[in-house]
Amino acid sequence: MEKKTFYLTTPIYYPSDKLHIGHTYCTVATDAIARYKRLKGLDVMFLTGTDEHGQKIESKAAEAGVSPQEFVDRIVDGPRGVRDLWKLMDISNDRFIRTTDDYHVESIQKIFKKMYEKGDIYKGAYKGKYCTPCESFWTESQLKDGCCPDCGRPVVDAEEEAYFFRLSKYADRVRDLLENTDFLQPRSRVNEMVKNFIEPGLEDLCVSRTSFSWGVPVDFDPGHVVYVWVDALFNYTTALGFLNDRYHDYDKYWPADVHIVGKEIVRFHSIIWPAMLMSMEMPLPKHVFGHGWLLLDGGKMSKSKGNVVDPYILAEKFGVDALRFFLMRTFPFGSDGNFSNELLIQTINTDLANDLGNLVSRTTAMVGKYFGGVLPAGCGATEEERQAALADSCTASGEGPAQFDLDLAHQAAHLRAAYEAAMESFAPHKALDEVFKVIQRANKYIDECAPWVLAKDMAVNGARLAHVMYVLLETTRICGILLSPFMPSSCEKLFAQIGACEHCRTWDSAAVWGALSDTASVTKGENLFPRIDMDKALAELEAAEAAAKTADQPDIELEPQLTEQVDFDTFCRSDFRAVKVKACDAVKKSAKLLRFTLDDGTGTDRQILSGIHKFYEPEELVGKTLVAIVNLPPRKMMGLESNGMLLSAVHTENGEERLHLIMVDDAIPAGAKLC
Ligand code: ME8
Repeated sequence: MEKKTFYLTTPIYYPSDKLHIGHTYCTVATDAIARYKRLKGLDVMFLTGTDEHGQKIESKAAEAGVSPQEFVDRIVDGPRGVRDLWKLMDISNDRFIRTTDDYHVESIQKIFKKMYEKGDIYKGAYKGKYCTPCESFWTESQLKDGCCPDCGRPVVDAEEEAYFFRLSKYADRVRDLLENTDFLQPRSRVNEMVKNFIEPGLEDLCVSRTSFSWGVPVDFDPGHVVYVWVDALFNYTTALGFLNDRYHDYDKYWPADVHIVGKEIVRFHSIIWPAMLMSMEMPLPKHVFGHGWLLLDGGKMSKSKGNVVDPYILAEKFGVDALRFFLMRTFPFGSDGNFSNELLIQTINTDLANDLGNLVSRTTAMVGKYFGGVLPAGCGATEEERQAALADSCTASGEGPAQFDLDLAHQAAHLRAAYEAAMESFAPHKALDEVFKVIQRANKYIDECAPWVLAKDMAVNGARLAHVMYVLLETTRICGILLSPFMPSSCEKLFAQIGACEHCRTWDSAAVWGALSDTASVTKGENLFPRIDMDKALAELEAAEAAAKTADQPDIELEPQLTEQVDFDTFCRSDFRAVKVKACDAVKKSAKLLRFTLDDGTGTDRQILSGIHKFYEPEELVGKTLVAIVNLPPRKMMGLESNGMLLSAVHTENGEERLHLIMVDDAIPAGAKLC
């Protein structure tokens, strides 16, 4: 029989800065779900990647003095970049898409054209508000106190010729999808979307830009680039090979089973995305799940606020699995949660060191001490326990050894069902809660059975002691299987310690009491989760964070300031003007020179040559408003005349020369005098 498929995705991340623990949270959650589905035997496609276009990236690259492509390459593929982070965090994605990949660009152009030819994309003029950091357009009525409703930052007026997507045409169908199906989860997000966005009326969406160039070009209208969210959302299909030849999995995996996304991008995924898919006449994803934010001191982490937590530091200090576990165990998926280092250490100490770690180390140590690591044959699951495991409820009553065994066998064998129900409803925190109830029950069982007392008279109690050990190993095995999507490498170690063979690590065997061989070979290995000294660890973290901050600071050298003074009149004779770049090209046979054709407000084009090719590609400068000194005498370079000089800022960073052209607000008209 063909395997059932399951296709799930994370958002594709903006490589505008290094990723932080909030991004890690989302990817770890999706990874745990992917691993759980694989454990159940499904044919899983797990996609993640990076969303690399847009004005924000273009500006950041300009600030850094590198091309946008170079800028994103560093953050995606560079040391401690996005790919490194997912490798470190043991993320098992099957595919990684970059929206700058050729095949994706090709598909996006075809998709845009298709919607245009259908009449769902049309040309108009855009007037509205734009939030640059979020790359989002807003109408006046959507603003919150005049600012971006998502991030609270100021928005700017925007007006330009643009293409629009007929979002309004799909309003009723999208509303029906939200209100009458389980498409959007958790359910509480449906109200939010309908009240805030659909009820006030869905306006058509601006889907192209002309004021910057870092995007997928609209191939039938040069000068326009596709709005970054159209480009980004379709990644979920282009990565499967939709309208390209790079992959051929579209028919197999589309529609997606779930897109896991953060709450601030639920609007894009639950309104704009289904509407565009309806326009393309493509099947809709089965679910979108909007999770909450990890907060720091009550606010959302963001690099621009300077309050991010570095996952590298935490994973290196506490271990990847401990960090993965903490993220999933502590914060109800779907709600916001307050992150703190104290909470992380507390969770590791309580759940991992005390509860799970102790169960494993006490059990394996006792099997070693009392039985040399192998229990006597015949000490395994009893018929009564197997029956109790199969029964709907635990029927044995009263206290006493038999009752403890039956109770634990019943709970352990029924754990899988409760866990599965939680995982299927995207509640990994609840699934872990179920596992830990059983782990705590098993630790209590050790106290109830007091093996150290039984061990005092092995001749009388040896058989009972062996069975108690078996019950503990078997419970540990079942918990290990269900914990493995969250802590894959620690669970491998756990299985090795309790001697669990391949057949008794499977999903099926997690609901069976007695799958572990009674003579499995048990070894007390390394302590899986050592206890952490809170004060010492906090001090070390603080030092590591401070060191990372210093390492992040570039070593900047500035030109020494001149002490020689110029008189005011001499200075005022320099004529600085705002100029707009009409055209820019590289001068032939020159590695350095760019030739600018500039509108300086006089009505006649001005030509300036500038030796800055090392810092800019000519295309990225067209349309920009720069500052030029216009009353310098003409100079000839490579046979061409240069009439003036463009102003730029220069410095040295980590030994490398940097240059940034002075760019001013595009609202300043060409020719305006700067004084
Ligand atoms: O939104 N807590 O990219 P992104 C929890 N490129 N989740 C957080 C978080 C926090 N503190 N901070 C960020 C984008 N996230 C788009 C996606 S998909 C077609 C395009 C989550 O890098 C955030 O909610 O800004 C989002 O789901 C994800 O990280 C990527 O954010």
